[in-house]
Amino acid sequence: MKDRLIVFDTTLRDGEQSPGASMTAEEKIRIARQLERLKVDVIEAGFPAASPGDFDAVEKVANTVRQSVICALARANARDVGLAADALEAAAQPRIHTFIATSPIHMKEKLRMSPSEVLDQAVLSVKQARNSTDDVEFSPEDAGRSEPDFLCRILEAVIDAGATTINIPDTVGYTMPSQFGQLIRSLIDRIPNSDRAVFSVHCHNDLGLAVANSLAAVLNGARQVECTINGLGERAGNASLEEIVMAVRTRQDVFPCDTLIDTTHIVPISRLVSSVTGFPVQPNKAIVGANAFAHEAGIHQDGVIKARETYEIMRAEDVGWSANRLVLGKHSGRRAFTERLAALGIEFDSDVERDEAFARFKDLADKKHEIFDEDLQTLVTDRAASQVNEKLQLISMMANLSSGKMPSAEIVLTVDGVEKTGRGEGDGVVDASYKAVQNVFPSDSELVLYSVNNITSGTDSQGEVSVRLQREGRIVNGHGADTDIVVASVKAYVNALNRLEGNYNQVHPQLSGTV
Ligand code: KIV
Ligand code: ZN
Repeated sequence: MKDRLIVFDTTLRDGEQSPGASMTAEEKIRIARQLERLKVDVIEAGFPAASPGDFDAVEKVANTVRQSVICALARANARDVGLAADALEAAAQPRIHTFIATSPIHMKEKLRMSPSEVLDQAVLSVKQARNSTDDVEFSPEDAGRSEPDFLCRILEAVIDAGATTINIPDTVGYTMPSQFGQLIRSLIDRIPNSDRAVFSVHCHNDLGLAVANSLAAVLNGARQVECTINGLGERAGNASLEEIVMAVRTRQDVFPCDTLIDTTHIVPISRLVSSVTGFPVQPNKAIVGANAFAHEAGIHQDGVIKARETYEIMRAEDVGWSANRLVLGKHSGRRAFTERLAALGIEFDSDVERDEAFARFKDLADKKHEIFDEDLQTLVTDRAASQVNEKLQLISMMANLSSGKMPSAEIVLTVDGVEKTGRGEGDGVVDASYKAVQNVFPSDSELVLYSVNNITSGTDSQGEVSVRLQREGRIVNGHGADTDIVVASVKAYVNALNRLEGNYNQVHPQLSGTV
């Protein structure tokens, strides 16, 4: 019997720490349901001490998911651990993940604490967490740059205090695979009570080594990997779940363990996370990129037609590419629509919401005859996006483009319920439309990203637009989708402006104090 490799997904916590990737509670629930279908062992749902909204989102995920362990992050202090315990009260399988930095630079510059104070604080927090659940994880933040002797001391102490999972983070993505593998091996060998905990790793991708480091750790005894869908996460991101899972599955000759992941859900959840966060997946991304299984060169095609193993080491359908199929059309009824959405993990709180979604579906089916799963996901995401603090609402728009004339646009918006019309001219219709929005609602924000993606193929495909606005150090993303990319662009811009105007007082887990 091979060992089990526990998959701990932190898309909803570390993934959400990507600038602009913040998700509403409703979006988190949709993703959590899909993670449960993927058979992820542990879902880190968030950091309840960050804000009342974050607390609420963790509580809702804990209420919804039954099959996966639901984990909440807490800095090593009494308030954070208490809030994590409260948010997890309804969870079927709750886990508290508490952490404190252990590298010399973090202890001195960030915490301003001595190593022994850090050790005491860690032990106190683990003990407190154990009062509300038997499943407690401890992380020495920045372990990759911590002194191995100190790591051994603190980890032995927290295991004695009741930690059941010891997670070793390479917080700044600094280590090399051979070095990280050896670190894991030596911790397991040197810590006297290491057999009483599962060793886990959490690698960041600053040098593009997050997956390589995680796999090196697995080869050296780690039996939990922390990862995110599409490798989303702080700065360059975390180790990507799909790459780790498929590497372990494809190279069973190398790995002494395997996961329980249902890999056929990988591509659909990758699409969902991309659509919710507005972070596109690069075409050449392993496993989930549009080109991952496409063969361009004639020689490759020839080889694949004769025997697919010549150039393919995995089957596209095993990671869910076949799920990308026509599901509904213009004549599909309400029942087929509701059933397909339920299969995608999308449920409605009320009949009114379901009726509204069905009306939007019929609208879309009139413009676009073939409706794919991705279209349905976008239909719901787009609606959720436009509900976030609707200070501004797009009522109608008109854009003019004719050769030899300056493109122009006229936009009607409501601002706090009052209808206003704005006009603009620009270098293209998108530019003109954005100027028209600014004419109605001047904002001193800077547009730092504008990207368009087609959701499915064909010129009638919906375009999904993401924009990122920055103001006084705060970054927000806005999304919009429509069969017309100018309309999608305006929806995305209005959505970002609404988010910028919304309340924001989230505490970042890694930037503030511990006690
Ligand atoms: O990167 C990191 O160190 C973290 C910890 C909170 C585990 O995300
Ligand atoms: Zn992290």
